[in-house]
Amino acid sequence: MSEIDLTQNDNTSTRVGNKLKGRVAFVTGGTRGIGASICRSLASQGATVAAGFTGNEKAATEFRDSFTETYATSVSIHKGNLGVPEDCRRTIDEVISNHGRLDILVNNAGITCDKTVLKMMDDDWFNVLNVNLSGVFFLCQAALRHMAERGSGRIVNVSSVIGEMGNIGQANYAASKSGLFGLTKTLAREAASLLARSGKLTEPNGIGITVNTVTPGFIATEMLGHIPEKVMEKILAQIPLGRLGKPEEIARVVHFLAADTSSYITGQVWGVNGGLDM
Ligand SMILES: NC(=O)c1ccc[n+]([C@@H]2O[C@H](COP(=O)([O-])OP(=O)(O)OC[C@H]3O[C@@H](n4cnc5c(N)ncnc54)[C@H](OP(=O)(O)O)[C@@H]3O)[C@@H](O)[C@H]2O)c1
Repeated sequence: MSEIDLTQNDNTSTRVGNKLKGRVAFVTGGTRGIGASICRSLASQGATVAAGFTGNEKAATEFRDSFTETYATSVSIHKGNLGVPEDCRRTIDEVISNHGRLDILVNNAGITCDKTVLKMMDDDWFNVLNVNLSGVFFLCQAALRHMAERGSGRIVNVSSVIGEMGNIGQANYAASKSGLFGLTKTLAREAASLLARSGKLTEPNGIGITVNTVTPGFIATEMLGHIPEKVMEKILAQIPLGRLGKPEEIARVVHFLAADTSSYITGQVWGVNGGLDM
């Protein structure tokens, strides 16, 4: 197995500004890896953060405790399995009732179950599609209702470069991640249409509702821990910038898309992959 240097994930930055002050963000899979970096990045500009997780209670409580120490503000943690529609709706409801509103939804949680097509079992296919694609749909559906009523919101979906390129052994993962492109673009259109119908689309100081997707390349998190060293060498050789990405390099783009001032960007796919898919 290859050793991924996770020390570079230690990107704790304290509060640096107020651009997201008063905003409430829910980041699924927000207690580890890329999601934890996204939470820190949003909090660094004053957002109140809620982080989702599914089974790793230890990581979730450690994240919550260290977060509170660093930012002198609390993060709420929400347990739920995105493969279960009821859990998706419940966690969105929990965040809204805990914090009074939801401004930013980051659909970051995702899983892999790698097998070549001929070896893939029914459950390998359905489990990955359920969590990575259907879960995002049910979360967006619940969040959009709330955002449309309020006339503002930001949804950022975390897809993958694999959704753009495909990859041997990842038919389920690639299909789930490219499915997010169609979902993102449709949601972006429907969100704008809902606001147009309620007369909120062109409000002078309105920030609207935008929906975008970020596609990370290979990022140094535990998700890559199962990749054999020889395979990792081959992957690195294909990346023009010659290294894995850092979680904070994804968080930076999510943060940018979540900002009020990014109100003219919707339905887009943002690659952050060291040039892998040029
Ligand atoms: N790392 C990469 O190279 C890479 C590249 C491209 C795209 N991505 C995408 O980026 C996102 C984050 O990846 P990562 O590497 O940070 O992942 P990670 O380190 O494996 O963390 C995954 C997070 O998602 C949560 N999660 C897993 N299954 C879930 C479920 N069924 N319901 C709710 N939450 C669940 C986990 O909760 P627990 O802690 O409770 O397990 C954890 O917080 C994923 O969507 C992934 O596909 C990653």
